[in-house]
Amino acid sequence: MNLAVFISGGGSNFKALIDAQNSGFFDSKINYVVANKDAAGLRYARDNNIDYLISKDEDEIIKNLKEYDIDLIVLAGYLVKISKKILDEFTVINIHPSLLPKYGGKGFYGMNVHNAVFENKEKISGVTVHFVNENLDEGDVILQKEVDISKCQSAEEISKEVLKIEHQTLKEVIKKLEEDECEH
Ligand code: GRF
Repeated sequence: MNLAVFISGGGSNFKALIDAQNSGFFDSKINYVVANKDAAGLRYARDNNIDYLISKDEDEIIKNLKEYDIDLIVLAGYLVKISKKILDEFTVINIHPSLLPKYGGKGFYGMNVHNAVFENKEKISGVTVHFVNENLDEGDVILQKEVDISKCQSAEEISKEVLKIEHQTLKEVIKKLEEDECEH
């Protein structure tokens, strides 16, 4: 599959996908990156000669994704809601740093998720990779992994523990989707 990765921030999940591609963990290729702003994670695109676009213009994004022959959009810390226009044209998946449906929906992104998990004294958190539909964080779940956070003393510690698992989970999902595609 030809992948496009969408980012808004540091891009550690994007970097994990680049590493997985380079090590041959999956066959897919990251063909393109889209950022809604000059995100720090774009340095990984530059370092690895992956073309990228900084834009919020959906028509421009769709046009470019078609030029790059994209099969799958991976939202990896992308903080803009994906519109129907894009969903009508592409399959989109997202990584979310909680065990959805818990701590999902409007306002639950980034540290907001981990702050809420910490305040609620959860012992287990985790990660969810799911298909994206028009309702925020409500698409079908592809893979979920739990993380023991009982020893975490702060929301930041939870975030670090969850992020480690995110990197593992996302590349496994790409491999799983490749295998599912082969079965059809
Ligand atoms: C991750 O926790 C991801 O689940 C969330 O935003 C964060 C992005 O981290 N959607 P990074 O930019 O991949 O480092």
